[in-house]
Amino acid sequence: MGFSTRQIHAGVTPDPLTGSILTPIYQSTTYAQPSVDAYMSKGFSYSRAGNPTVRALENKITDLENGVDTTCYGTGMAAVQAVLLTFLNAGDHLLVSDVAYGGTYRFCMQVLSRFGVDIAFADTADPDAVRAAMRDNTRMIFSETPANPTMKLSDIAALSDIAKSAGAVHCVDNTFLTPYYQRPLELGADLSLHSTTKYMDGHNATVGGSVTAANQELGDALKFMQKTAGVIMSPQVAWLTLQGCKTLSVRLERQSANAQAIAEYLEAHPKVAQVAYPGLPSFSQYDLACSQASGFGAMLWFEVKGGVAAGKRLMDNIELWTLAENLGSVESLITHPVTMTHADVDPAERARVGIIDGLVRLSVGLEDVEDLIDALDQALAAA
Ligand SMILES: Cc1ncc(COP(=O)(O)O)c(C=O)c1O
Repeated sequence: MGFSTRQIHAGVTPDPLTGSILTPIYQSTTYAQPSVDAYMSKGFSYSRAGNPTVRALENKITDLENGVDTTCYGTGMAAVQAVLLTFLNAGDHLLVSDVAYGGTYRFCMQVLSRFGVDIAFADTADPDAVRAAMRDNTRMIFSETPANPTMKLSDIAALSDIAKSAGAVHCVDNTFLTPYYQRPLELGADLSLHSTTKYMDGHNATVGGSVTAANQELGDALKFMQKTAGVIMSPQVAWLTLQGCKTLSVRLERQSANAQAIAEYLEAHPKVAQVAYPGLPSFSQYDLACSQASGFGAMLWFEVKGGVAAGKRLMDNIELWTLAENLGSVESLITHPVTMTHADVDPAERARVGIIDGLVRLSVGLEDVEDLIDALDQALAAA
């Protein structure tokens, strides 16, 4: 069946008790067991270890990502943390994309590093650089593609091959494109991760995360960590995310079309110094964008001529676009990563990987594109 059919029907069936077409919010801590011998015969024991509403979402995401099993978490960062803590031990070497969400960088530098994991940041856009950075004890490659906020792409198939030949796990943060446009497991990755906060929910209503595994052994290891570390998603968040997933393809198509029009508008604007959007032929990795994903997504960034001061004037004065963290929602958002999402990344490292001080990030929503462009036009005129 096609993606749009599966995003609605996969993982859910009308409630057997009442016929409720939506999976109920199973707000229960514990589950009565029929007898000692039949413990867990209905699949649930205690909501830290598993919850029927959360399970429905996990099954839906497994289907959409074309994986084997999924675990859902209280936040996207809980998902990142679960992956890193499940598959790495003291003495192991970890390779992380040198451009990644600031929270991932912060967790690696300020938490994981305390536990004896040797962390290196590599240019995952360049498979040769990754190959050269591999060591005998490399146990994981963690890539994010497109990367937040520079939009740099990593070649998922090439990195997966490198990881496989080293016996390492390759985890892809697939938040920006979602399984509608990009399915890392089909390209050879072992794990596909989401901040479901973003497009999977899509309505600025929740925070959550998910990890889909390509095989049951990896899936079981993540399930174990989900209950042991106590990082499971709540049933209300799972329920809202279940509803969000049903419109994923429609939202993504329209948001991406809006983003394409906005990127083209910005590229032609005399006050714009540069624009990065994978759907522009001028984008340095346009060919890779076309070959490993079926769409370009709705995230982009640009720099206003006049640098940081002009960019700040634009962000402080723009109408319609909300100045806020988050991305992927129906509301269009504008963000200054250097002071917001990536403030904890070392300034020299930010500069080295292209997170320039004047970078203005756009998460394009579902409003009428003419209105979004009008607002940008007015703000650029005043910048
Ligand atoms: C690419 C990416 N991964 C992970 C996260 C972390 O997700 P959350 O904010 O849900 O913890 C974010 C948050 O912005 C993100 O952009």
